[in-house]
Amino acid sequence: MFDVEAIRSQFPALSLEVNGHPLTYLDNGASAQKPQRVIDRISKAYSFEYANVHRGLHHLSNVATENFEQARKKVQTFIGAEKEEEIIFTKSATEAFNLVAHSLIAPEIQPGDEIIISLMEHHSNIVPWHYLKERYGAVIRWIPVLDDGTLDMLAFENLLNEKTKLVAVTHMSNVLGTINPINEICEKAHSVGAYVVVDGAQAAVHEKIDMTWQECDFYVMTGHKLYGPSGIGVLYGRHDILSQMRPFLGGGEMIKSVTTEHIEYADLPHRFEAGTPPIVQAIALGEALDFLTEIDMGAIKIHEKELLNYANSQMAALDKVRIIGNCPSKGSIITFSVKDIHAHDISAILDKYGVAVRAGTHCAEPLLTHFGETSTCRASMGMYNTKEDIDRFIEALSKAIQFFS
Ligand code: ALA
Repeated sequence: MFDVEAIRSQFPALSLEVNGHPLTYLDNGASAQKPQRVIDRISKAYSFEYANVHRGLHHLSNVATENFEQARKKVQTFIGAEKEEEIIFTKSATEAFNLVAHSLIAPEIQPGDEIIISLMEHHSNIVPWHYLKERYGAVIRWIPVLDDGTLDMLAFENLLNEKTKLVAVTHMSNVLGTINPINEICEKAHSVGAYVVVDGAQAAVHEKIDMTWQECDFYVMTGHKLYGPSGIGVLYGRHDILSQMRPFLGGGEMIKSVTTEHIEYADLPHRFEAGTPPIVQAIALGEALDFLTEIDMGAIKIHEKELLNYANSQMAALDKVRIIGNCPSKGSIITFSVKDIHAHDISAILDKYGVAVRAGTHCAEPLLTHFGETSTCRASMGMYNTKEDIDRFIEALSKAIQFFS
């Protein structure tokens, strides 16, 4: 049974007071707090199990290597990947997108080839494609967003053609909360022979991800939003595609042999993990995934949906508030602006009441521009949030609005 108080008690940060008020942490879309067991796992790995991986034949190196590879298996299981070689550890989701851009798309792209991305992408899934536009003459085509924040699937179908090389789209918008129909997108993109990379940085925290039926070529995640550490990202890639790709980072451990004349790349997945990898971060991510699995992603989704509905009904009663994104298929994110009050001012007042939200463009400038906003606030909920958190947030927001009116 989902017991939110039992979950909360495992997160030390949630017992903090900020400015004399209990912390109301609603900035999970930016980064989530960590449960004690993840913190303990990091401490244990550095205290008693630490050495470099894949390099030594001594005891500690073997322990660290075993734990690191065990973490890969945990990620494989968490997302239902067929093979553990399909899991590449990166330092972030951003690095994962750049890996796809430079290892797969850049070597194939011709001037005039098209990359389709949506208007609701985070900069990490925009800028790498701009590089390809700038450097190789790729053309970026944008899937529009409807007024309620739904992806315009009809427009998407019309954008697809034989020049489409890649479709790069988010599973869940970090601003609108919109959850996109990934399978339909993959099916349509594959019908013109395009690859699909899906940004799962937000979705993987709120939804059950399962590559056995979500037929993405690539799926990207980041550890710090999954209640795990920062400094670790995941690129899932289909084995047949990954095995044809050349690495974009060169260095130690990603090669089989190096001579003065030649190099021979290591097998998957290590060929994409040059240099000392984020060893402890991967191990602690594995712990965070165990934690999520024990709680159950289905139960988390139900809890967060209830919170979202509750927050929406409270927000509706507030004057001057505009919510950006209210499509039916929405995860637990509320982005909003308040007429004539800057988002930074709202956020500063909320902080006085111990309420943490994000303010700004949320690294999604094209989307904000489309909605005619330069800065908004975002309350993003996680599994440990409660209706009391929402009440405190709404009370603080009402006071902020009064203060500036
Ligand atoms: N991608 C993170 C966010 O949406 C940082 O806030």
